[in-house]
Amino acid sequence: MYVEDWFLVWIINIIVGKYEINGGIRIVMRKLEKVDELFPKNGDLLVPKEIKKERDKMEETTLIYRSALREISTKLNVLDDEFRVRRKRNPIEYMKSRVKSIESIMEKLKRRGFEVGVESAKKNLNDIAGIRVVCSFVSDIYEVAELLKGQYDVTLVEEKDYIKAPKANGYRSLHMVVQIPIFLSDHVANVRVEVQIRTIAMDFWASLEHKLYYKIGTENHEHIRSDLKECADVIASTDMRMQEIQREVEKIR
Ligand code: GTP
Ligand code: MG
Repeated sequence: MYVEDWFLVWIINIIVGKYEINGGIRIVMRKLEKVDELFPKNGDLLVPKEIKKERDKMEETTLIYRSALREISTKLNVLDDEFRVRRKRNPIEYMKSRVKSIESIMEKLKRRGFEVGVESAKKNLNDIAGIRVVCSFVSDIYEVAELLKGQYDVTLVEEKDYIKAPKANGYRSLHMVVQIPIFLSDHVANVRVEVQIRTIAMDFWASLEHKLYYKIGTENHEHIRSDLKECADVIASTDMRMQEIQREVEKIR
């Protein structure tokens, strides 16, 4: 080929964008090496078909989990309303719910050594959908939990009582994984939801501890950990006293 021909081929390549596309594919392949980039949002045209399919499946799955959260929230709101009518007070102060982001689902699967994919997430993770229920008093936690578990379409999968047996760092909450049926157009999906029930005081401690934990990381700051544990214990005894005061008030009302 003459020099002029090479020049012509080069010009044509630029016109059809070959170099640009090759460069793009290289960037995407590099991105895919990192798990948090498994489902890149940018450069969609260059994402391999199987990955796009898996991403769509994951988006559909999170939609089902969002529906499950709505179901559980409705059940809890109904219980709260009924309680208010019968006992003239609400046991639930507030609720917060969330569906885990696709990125953190993938990150958790990888960290736990599971296969990274939609089916694996549905099978191995109990907390794709999570709801935190913040109650007024400790006794409300158990009452709300029993009433929820007692509903015939709610199946208890797992329960961890970190109130009766607090974690070593002082963390307290009642954790349940429940399964409920979600009726879709062509099938029924049995969906698991993680329900964390705690008092306002326990929530206050857990929120702050969570923030501080990220700052300390895995380093062994023993005095900080023991201070946090002491705060958790003080909070727990305050919760007990508030419970006793509430019982007194109930008697005189
Ligand atoms: P998962 O598979 O992640 O559910 O692991 P697990 O079942 O061992 O966890 P567990 O049910 O004990 O706790 C899950 C969730 O509870 C966490 O994602 C936090 O939201 C909360 N949690 C558990 N321990 C602590 C803690 O020590 N501090 C705070 N702030 N939150 C905690
Ligand atoms: Mg759990």
